[in-house]
Amino acid sequence: MVGARFLLFCSACLLAGESEARRYKPTPPPPTVEELSEILKMAYEAYTMKAIESTTGDEVAALKSRVATLARQLVMQQLFVEERVRSDGDSGIKQVRHHFEGTRPYHAASHTGNTFASMHDHANNIRTVGLGEFIAVLNGVEFRTRHNDYGLRMPSTTSSTYHEVEDIPFPDVPPEVLQHHDVAGQITELREWFKAWKKRDRSERDYRKYFKPVLCYLEGAWTFSDKLEESFASDRHFLDAASWFDLQEKVRYTSYSGGKSNLENFSYLPTTIMNMINGTLPQIAQWNYRVLCHPLKRDLPVNRFRVVDDLMARMAKKKTLKEYVTTRAARFTLNPFDTDEWVDGRKNYGLVDDLMAEIPGKDNYGAELYDDAFDAVAYPYNSTDNTKKLNVGFYHRWVRVGSRDAMGRTERHRGFADQNVFMARTTQPNVAGVEVNVCKGWRRNRCTLYNQKWTYAIPLEVVYMTPLLKWNPYEIQYKGDKSSTLARTVTAGGRWGSSRDSARALNGTNSKRFYQTPHEFFGGNEQGRSSADTVKGKAGVLDRAGRLHVVKASGTRIVLPYIPGVGSLRTRYPIMPVHGEGSAVWKELEALKDIVLSPVENAHMFHENWRDDTSEGVVLLTGKAKGDEHVHRVVLSADDVGMLKLGRTVLVESGEAKGHYHEVKIRVRANGRFVMVRCDGARNCADGHGRSLTVAPPEDVDVANDGMI
Ligand SMILES: *[C@@H]1O[C@H](CO)[C@@H](O)[C@H](O)[C@H]1NC(C)=O
Ligand SMILES: *[C@@H]1O[C@H](CO)[C@@H](O)[C@H](O)[C@H]1NC(C)=O
Ligand SMILES: *[C@@H]1O[C@H](CO)[C@@H](O)[C@H](O)[C@H]1NC(C)=O
Ligand SMILES: *[C@@H]1O[C@H](CO)[C@@H](O)[C@H](O)[C@H]1NC(C)=O
Repeated sequence: MVGARFLLFCSACLLAGESEARRYKPTPPPPTVEELSEILKMAYEAYTMKAIESTTGDEVAALKSRVATLARQLVMQQLFVEERVRSDGDSGIKQVRHHFEGTRPYHAASHTGNTFASMHDHANNIRTVGLGEFIAVLNGVEFRTRHNDYGLRMPSTTSSTYHEVEDIPFPDVPPEVLQHHDVAGQITELREWFKAWKKRDRSERDYRKYFKPVLCYLEGAWTFSDKLEESFASDRHFLDAASWFDLQEKVRYTSYSGGKSNLENFSYLPTTIMNMINGTLPQIAQWNYRVLCHPLKRDLPVNRFRVVDDLMARMAKKKTLKEYVTTRAARFTLNPFDTDEWVDGRKNYGLVDDLMAEIPGKDNYGAELYDDAFDAVAYPYNSTDNTKKLNVGFYHRWVRVGSRDAMGRTERHRGFADQNVFMARTTQPNVAGVEVNVCKGWRRNRCTLYNQKWTYAIPLEVVYMTPLLKWNPYEIQYKGDKSSTLARTVTAGGRWGSSRDSARALNGTNSKRFYQTPHEFFGGNEQGRSSADTVKGKAGVLDRAGRLHVVKASGTRIVLPYIPGVGSLRTRYPIMPVHGEGSAVWKELEALKDIVLSPVENAHMFHENWRDDTSEGVVLLTGKAKGDEHVHRVVLSADDVGMLKLGRTVLVESGEAKGHYHEVKIRVRANGRFVMVRCDGARNCADGHGRSLTVAPPEDVDVANDGMI
């Protein structure tokens, strides 16, 4: 905002007439962002007034051009910062709030610590998913969120109105459960469904209709909005500020003083000069973000997730990887190949692209937009059909274009080198766009004006909705939103949820006291509790007839309490990417981690064979060549033999015979025999040496160990 303040200063001095400037005036109060836009507009209008131009025309024109130059430099300054952040890393989470530290740097939190992305549970709320504050980067724009606590809501399926959302419908309870008339019978049957989901066993119970994955995402955009705008509702947190300016001042104050709002209701959201209208009138845009969800159309088996080994968190917690997976610190990645088995390898368009492609940008589900900027029409990545363009109103990273780039490629990824950024086009007037005029032809007179608006997103987590959201065997009355009159009867007269005293038990449930799952369904308590959690272990709730039942919370949890005979099931799989992973250092670090953590698989990476010091070198003889029957000797070092024992191949040069040698690749068969799998890059040697290699007689070995071939 330094820039905007400077501009304000300039326009204020321009507005003041010469004589007025000499008179004493008290310092005016600081303007709001809204006023700022207004002042700039007035200043612009003032320049164009004939009266002023005729008296001080030259001066005004000169000032006008200087303001334009300075504002232009501010636009470029913002671009510079974004470009710098883009090359530092990818879109993703960067840091959570600091709560603890220790003797080693990794005792403090990064993107994870005790919990990844400050995730926690508000299972006592019907629709709330607990998520704290964090710093994230989306397409080079770094910002800090408020305490998020988002709801299970999705873009509107019927309207294209800006930020119109609807509640995601909860899955039903399997009829096989409801057909039992006793609660014990229902409990037993429902546990079987949880078991089927865990084991991905559809043979007897097709769980897919009742366990529904929801993909929640973080979306950001440059917006035009004069008034402070809450871009997504939280049942628990709201931005605690009256205007954008107010919010900025509060954030500035807390950053300066190191303080914080107890309620974690401030977010740091940058502003920028987006465009210069007619070259002189700055157009200010406000960065804003939201967390929203989408019910996936397909089933997503839980084995598609693999835990990411964030060593710092695991080290601080002193856990094995297996123990670590069950903690709230763990995060996951999706198997891009969408297969039961994980195989590491390169893959462009993958599973996450398929899933994100179901999510629309800010035009909501009815979006239908295409991209033909710079004459490169975007097509779906995996199609070769040039009659069907890609609907870029939905989130995507990979596209195919009709014409080749300077590197001869038609496959493109959004961003210069951002692995994670998904983008979607929008037509919302509230979203700030950029336009560019591209002229072609010999005289550059065939011009096209491209004017597009884009929003950015990254996947945040997959939340599995289970039948627990609807299952209500005691038929406890749900009284709706917590602030309604009816909902207030739940806690009226000091009712807090006692499980012994009917007079203190909750009278029905509401959006913030959502307890309806029989206590006996679970065999344990809430898992991995944190201070941000609000859920009670159990509560006493009255049904319609006033009977007391002991129940547990029925909302969304990271890990469900233990279910007897089934286990501890995770229902939230965070897959938010990490900003730093896009840096060269982190990529190198991941390679090093793989080598250190899987030394056998990556034995070929070591410069010295330090594992297997019992291996000895060996001299082999190739099979006879066709015709003159010459053979070559092949000398393997102790390192080579160690490598072969690990099941890897080694590439060596054979000794010379008949004035030539071969480049051979060798492997050891399960029966211990050495075979040549490649010879001079081909399956077989051109002069016909047999593929099996024999160990040379001892007299040859002595020579070989002297280093002679
Ligand atoms: C801030 O968040 C708290 C919940 O932590 C909420 O009760 C409060 O209403 C919010 N404050 C404002 C001003 O929105
Ligand atoms: C920009 O210039 C055009 C053409 O001169 C004019 O019609 C328009 O009103 C100007 N816009 C602003 C915001 O001054
Ligand atoms: C492209 O990918 C989508 C999503 O995975 C799939 O539905 C479609 O069949 C694919 N098309 C081709 C031509 O492979
Ligand atoms: C519970 O609330 C209902 C209103 O929903 C009310 O009619 C009833 O009297 C209450 N029961 C008790 C025991 O307070």
